[in-house]
Amino acid sequence: MKIAGIELEDPLIISSGIVPDVPSFISRVCREYRPSAITTKTFTLLSLEPHRPPTLLRFQDGCYINAIGLGNPGVSVVDSISCDCNLFISVGGKDREEIREVGKRVEKKAKLIEINLSSPNRKGYGASLATESYEIVKEIKSTVKVPVFVKLGPWDNVLEIAGKALEGGADGLSLINTLKGELVDVETFSPILSYGTGGISGKCIYPLALRVIADVYKEYEVEIIGMGGVFSYMDVLGLMSAGAKVVGLGSVIIDQGYNIINKIRKDLSIYLNKKGLKLENIIGSAVKK
Ligand SMILES: Cc1cc2nc3c(=O)[nH]c(=O)nc-3n(C[C@H](O)[C@H](O)[C@H](O)COP(=O)(O)O)c2cc1C
Repeated sequence: MKIAGIELEDPLIISSGIVPDVPSFISRVCREYRPSAITTKTFTLLSLEPHRPPTLLRFQDGCYINAIGLGNPGVSVVDSISCDCNLFISVGGKDREEIREVGKRVEKKAKLIEINLSSPNRKGYGASLATESYEIVKEIKSTVKVPVFVKLGPWDNVLEIAGKALEGGADGLSLINTLKGELVDVETFSPILSYGTGGISGKCIYPLALRVIADVYKEYEVEIIGMGGVFSYMDVLGLMSAGAKVVGLGSVIIDQGYNIINKIRKDLSIYLNKKGLKLENIIGSAVKK
């Protein structure tokens, strides 16, 4: 299994923002659970404070809403990460100069750089910069040599933004980030999250992720890291049949712990053996051309 020329043991990786941005923790998750790759929390040049709690809520079975707001200790932490898993490093910033600089700073450690142009939880960052995807990608691609993926959200204009990112030179796309939502406390009639809104993730967004991946794959046939509500081996196969080459696990780990990686890996292998199927034949198989 390969993505952007990087050899992976299997298609299961960990999505951004799930493993804490603490180097010793990243090493431990790598050692104990052997994901094919770990995508780091999005790093910015300098540290950003997370929003005030509550920042993460489970509002239904397997469904979450978070507004951590890209809180992170700043890119210098990446220098202390030491692990032998593939490290996909998520980069962000308030403008293209910052994003390029963060990309440059992480290049030595990163097997792949994922530009976060989709987090809905901090004004001026993430999704706020999606319309500049062409310029941002072009700039970072002229600075680094490792593959660059762009992470997008489930927006109505996702095909247009994806097209611009690819024109700018993106090697692939990560789909999808959370989608913006809100919860209200009916005692106080005020939003529950301190930021007001948050990003919805988990089971509730699985069909949305699948449809966005299928639309983008159909249009561009590009390499896709698919994520959004994957809770079982069947969900992995679903996103792959929609066009994902690799699948990110996110909320399921928050919900059930890191051991779910082993369970999904085992279930997937049993199913493929039983059916005599090969993963490479499944990618994009549900997309009508
Ligand atoms: C607590 C939390 C923090 C996240 N932080 C980031 C982040 O820093 N950068 C990013 O690109 N995506 C971030 N995400 C989005 C996930 O990487 C993923 O795209 C999204 O949650 C959908 O996948 P899931 O339904 O499997 O969780 C975060 C998600 C959660 C739940």
